[in-house]
Amino acid sequence: MSTFPSFNGSECEEDDVEYNKMCDKHKHLLETLPKGGGWMEQHLYNYNGFWLNEMFLKANLLVHTYFKSEPTDIVLASFMKSGTTWLKALMFSTLNRDRYSFSNHYLHNNSPQSTIPFLEAVSYPMTDFTTFSTPRLFATHFARTLLPACMTSCKFVYVCRDPKDVLVSKWHFISKLRSKDLPPLSFDEAFELFCLGVSEFGPFWEHVLSYWRASLESPDKILFLRYEELKKQPEVVVRKLADFMGKPITMEEEKNGVVGEIINLCSFENLSNLEVNKKGVDKFGKLLEVEKKGFFRKGEIGDWKNYLSEEMKDRIDGITEQKFQGSGLIGFSE
Ligand code: A3P
Repeated sequence: MSTFPSFNGSECEEDDVEYNKMCDKHKHLLETLPKGGGWMEQHLYNYNGFWLNEMFLKANLLVHTYFKSEPTDIVLASFMKSGTTWLKALMFSTLNRDRYSFSNHYLHNNSPQSTIPFLEAVSYPMTDFTTFSTPRLFATHFARTLLPACMTSCKFVYVCRDPKDVLVSKWHFISKLRSKDLPPLSFDEAFELFCLGVSEFGPFWEHVLSYWRASLESPDKILFLRYEELKKQPEVVVRKLADFMGKPITMEEEKNGVVGEIINLCSFENLSNLEVNKKGVDKFGKLLEVEKKGFFRKGEIGDWKNYLSEEMKDRIDGITEQKFQGSGLIGFSE
């Protein structure tokens, strides 16, 4: 079973030449990369076309230096606030459905975040992922092109969501994490930054396209999903997930209603009402703690209507249309 990386490993800088070299590179990048307005901290840094904060930039260098992927790895990739928590729960419970009974499940007492570790939460020294059982599950918000070449052989499940809902969800989420040394980020400021692409792990559109293009090149390696289709037809998506992860739902399981059990277990209503997801924090790396309840807000399609003016909606839809043009990827409309 996948578990979270250890957060207590101490930084040992003396005798690891490779790590010291990596730290020098990190320092140099922070001094030289183009900067943009941060949502959590003051700055984001544009690294190979994508905006990362200081911590995520370091994690990316760590992944490139130390992470050894295996062809059997399955990686959940997403732009933040696109349904990662939901997919973590779904992938974990689908893959481990022989292991836990639905009446006494791991997810009843553990947060979905604990099921699949984020690559951007790695720290030094890197957790020994070789002890994880096969297939190993990982999650990442890094764009496809920011991942090491060795990961081309892994399978990816990518989930995307209407950018208007992503923006609203992200603004709520990040407002709580924003440094207290900075003035609050207004929704109008967040909107402007988002449209300019300046957003942790963004630009949103290039992020989606990085996985979409990879999915066209290797359809058997990348399962491209949408939050909206998952809301509308969860049973179709769970069957797709099970097939993709190499563990198709059997006739017997169909008869026993296993698909429905997985959907109910991982539903917004169920997960958000569990005591374990109402209190306490999830830890990401050594520096980031997030209140567990922060991962569950409304879980709806179209909450953007409560925040965006007609003009704002048209601007985001226009950017989506322009960016996706010619890609074969259709936009987001209800
Ligand atoms: P809202 O803020 O719009 O409610 P992520 O997991 O990528 O951080 O995304 C968080 C978004 O997914 C939030 O959206 C959250 O409420 C929603 N979400 C979390 N768990 C969910 C679930 N089981 N089903 C549907 N949506 C879920």
